[in-house]
Amino acid sequence: MKQNFLFQQLYEDQSSTFTYLLADSNTKEAVLIDTVIETVDRDLKLIEELGLKLIYVLDTHIHADHVTGAGEIRKRLGIKTAVPKKANVPCADLNLSEGDEIKFGEFTISTLETPGHTDASLSFYCEDMVFSGDALLIRGTGRTDFQSGSASELYDSVHKKLFTLPPSTTLYPAHDYKGFTSSSIAMEIKHNPRVGGGRTKEQFIQIMSELKLAYPKKIDQALPANFSCGTIGKDLGAEIKYKNISPSELQNRLGASLLVDVRENDEYTGELGHIQGSHLITLGESLKPFLEGYNRTEEIVFVCRSGNRSAIASQLAVELGFEKISNLEGGMLRWNELKFPVKK
Ligand SMILES: [Fe+2]
Repeated sequence: MKQNFLFQQLYEDQSSTFTYLLADSNTKEAVLIDTVIETVDRDLKLIEELGLKLIYVLDTHIHADHVTGAGEIRKRLGIKTAVPKKANVPCADLNLSEGDEIKFGEFTISTLETPGHTDASLSFYCEDMVFSGDALLIRGTGRTDFQSGSASELYDSVHKKLFTLPPSTTLYPAHDYKGFTSSSIAMEIKHNPRVGGGRTKEQFIQIMSELKLAYPKKIDQALPANFSCGTIGKDLGAEIKYKNISPSELQNRLGASLLVDVRENDEYTGELGHIQGSHLITLGESLKPFLEGYNRTEEIVFVCRSGNRSAIASQLAVELGFEKISNLEGGMLRWNELKFPVKK
């Protein structure tokens, strides 16, 4: 490692998240990867003590277990935030895809697309280190059952992207729950019990399908907050002011509530279809003016593909003062799985 490469691994214990500080100690330019709202003060104090000039805050993916500190740090320091392009986060300054580079001082971070934990997850490679987010963990992987995750895609991301890095590359994930702090690509190829040790894609898909993990505790607050750069719903202890409803609850209420589908036009008319009577108002600029036309006591149910974008819309409606807001859990994916009627 070059002498002027400054590196610090930081930890947040509620969500077991690692935040990484990378800097060039000659030019003082610095970057943070995967910050947590609760530890923003600590991170900024460290940056100040070291005399660094923070220029970017990167997120490997849209986290479901904690709120990113990116928006708060941008507000305080005027830095640029960067997220995966495929995550569709309009408030971010940079939207990163495969091959995109972030420069600080004489160093460069290269972006690798490593989907599977979420459909938009990235890993960042810099100076023989890889920051893998939740794609590859130490002796584990991220879960693949939320946020359009896919075990098959994750296996390919790990095998075709991460496992093809130089074997000596140090692995720094976004989390660890067992006390590890780093690993190497060589060690994970050999010892990772899910994707290493010669396990096939079929074996990995089988392992992931049998995990039976609990619904992430903070997901309903963290996702809407993170899709808006961590600027809303910061208080994870706060009650959610909208209801999550199951497809069968919605089926029983059809006709009684205003149904708003916030997907894109081609999704609405695409293979998952849409629910009869739903209004298509794509999440974006047109949603607020549409809602303004309704009484704040109107019962509204928001729908999207998997329940993430509709959670953001629900949060927005609550902030506008609506009192009876519901979000369809699992979105049209779950609706279709349960074979409820769709219009195509
Ligand atoms: Fe994650």
